[in-house]
Amino acid sequence: MSNIPAVITGTGSYTPARVLTNSDFERMVDTSDEWIRTRTGIRERRIKEDGIGSSDLAVEAGKKALARAGLEPSDLDLLIVGTVTPDYPVPATSCFVQRKLGAFNAAAMDVGAACSSFMYGLSTATAYVKSGFRKRVLVIGVESLSSLTNYADRSTCVLFGDGAGAVVVEAGENGGKQGVLGFALHADGRHTGLLWVPLGGSVNPIRSGNVDQGRFFIEMNGNEVFKIAVRAMVSASAEVCKTAGVSVDDISLFIPHQANIRIIDAVQKRIGISSDKVFVNIEKYGNTSSASVPLALDEAFCAGRIKKGDLVLMVAFGGGLTWGAALVRF
Ligand code: UT7
Repeated sequence: MSNIPAVITGTGSYTPARVLTNSDFERMVDTSDEWIRTRTGIRERRIKEDGIGSSDLAVEAGKKALARAGLEPSDLDLLIVGTVTPDYPVPATSCFVQRKLGAFNAAAMDVGAACSSFMYGLSTATAYVKSGFRKRVLVIGVESLSSLTNYADRSTCVLFGDGAGAVVVEAGENGGKQGVLGFALHADGRHTGLLWVPLGGSVNPIRSGNVDQGRFFIEMNGNEVFKIAVRAMVSASAEVCKTAGVSVDDISLFIPHQANIRIIDAVQKRIGISSDKVFVNIEKYGNTSSASVPLALDEAFCAGRIKKGDLVLMVAFGGGLTWGAALVRF
């Protein structure tokens, strides 16, 4: 990579106002607040209203990130949206976000790597900025997972929520210390069936003959995904630290994908980072897929948990399977 640093100069997030609590689920399916809290760490999640799209959530997060970076939408030259819940199959959600923000000088594209989409999007933005091809990129991870959730399936419906998180990535001063230090990105397509939506794509388009099967929702083999998630998040974290030449003790804050508190705890222990350096907000939002890491990053900023000079490790994992870790000096 060239010497141009790719610096995160602003973060933002947005979650819809409507709250779905564990007690609400007790009235919907055969579950209990106790099971959900102890097995997942989730207490509540946010759900968008009907008629609102992922682009609407993304725009609110994007506006905040731009304001914190001191930029106007017209300053952007690239807009990347990571999501598994686009507004429509065509066109890209990033184009709706571009129009709603008024960011008409920006090229716009979506990145799809399930819950790792934000990490893949951030790596794309970093490569564009480091190469000198783009200077100011807005990367947004956004999900309306309520639109892919089967609220009759207790094994998945209690897990997911809606939300958005955004970062502005800008070209920094040559030789500057701030910026993205590196990534570890991986995928394993042998496990596509562990976490997927079987109906509604090109192989099985929704037709009048199959719509009753109801398989246009997220289906997951939770146990298998859990085990692989722990191993993958630990190895990606170790890899990115090794490549960047930093030790775990150098890390100021660890921001893991918020899928399950037991996964977070297992990863934290295996990496060997102290629990007070781990940022957790899963209790408020559940698993928001692509939005999970940038939403947590923004909340960490707002809570004063990240200061200038801090080294932050972020790691995501999701369907595909895909996973990735990033090390960033703020
Ligand atoms: O973001 C992408 C990555 N996603 C993940 O990383 C998610 C990974 N997986 C998980 O977080 C966990 O596997 C789950 C939270 C999904 C499930 O937890 P688990 O401890 O693996 O539970 P389980 O699937 O082994 O189910 C244990 C029991 C089963 O009952 P039996 O067969 O033992 O009688 C389930 O039917 O819990 C039952 N169960 C529930 N009980 C009450 C499953 N869901 C529920 C529920 N309420 N909501």
